[in-house]
Amino acid sequence: MQVVILPTAAEVGRIAAAKVASVIQRRPDAVLGLATGSSPLAIYADLAERVRSGALRVDAVRAFALDEYVGLPLDHPESYHSVIRRTVTKPVGLAPGLVHVPDGAAADLDAAAADYETAIRDAGGVDVQILGIGANGHIGFNEPTSSFASRTRIKTLAPRTRADNARFFASPDDVPRHCVTQGLGTILDARELVLVATGPAKADAVHAMVEGPLSSMCPGSALQLHPHAMVVVDEAAAARLE
Ligand code: F6R
Repeated sequence: MQVVILPTAAEVGRIAAAKVASVIQRRPDAVLGLATGSSPLAIYADLAERVRSGALRVDAVRAFALDEYVGLPLDHPESYHSVIRRTVTKPVGLAPGLVHVPDGAAADLDAAAADYETAIRDAGGVDVQILGIGANGHIGFNEPTSSFASRTRIKTLAPRTRADNARFFASPDDVPRHCVTQGLGTILDARELVLVATGPAKADAVHAMVEGPLSSMCPGSALQLHPHAMVVVDEAAAARLE
């Protein structure tokens, strides 16, 4: 695991975006893995700027989001379908037809999750997976105790995750209780991983992910198993690293 510690959150976004851009430059129809949440927003803003300035072309880029809430209509402003469209597809200029998000509104969620795995495989797999980490160590919505071999499936959100994400909803009770998420096994299949974390609230999770034992109690520690995992953090998120 390569750990890069930078002075500011802005630099974290810039360095992680440079990594993603280099993958796209090498392979114009690259398959990106997209995370939602606050952490990767600086990456998407940087990629959007590269596209605007003509330094990067993304017409052929394909993408698969990590996760989606269950129980929200797809057009709800906080569904990850909406969030990905608003924060990635539109500003970066990805072709909407090439951007995929798990279906959390499917009548048969198990079948939809299996179809998502097939779609990723049929695309040739993910070239570079962008990740954030939850304060409890989750990646995607793989909460503590998730199997390292897990694939896309329905999960129950941990109380801590629902509390952390309540900022996006009118009331904490409005945060969905379930989600569909790529599994840790799915994430580990990506050819490269780039995880970003900033701020003091992530310091414990970053410590457990980078220096803790490999443990399903910190799903992020699965990155220790990956040959090409890059963790980019600011000094606040790195505060507990030895
Ligand atoms: C969501 C996802 C989550 C977030 C994590 C951190 O797609 O993958 O694992 O990355 O909850 O969220 P933020 O960045 O909002 O602190």
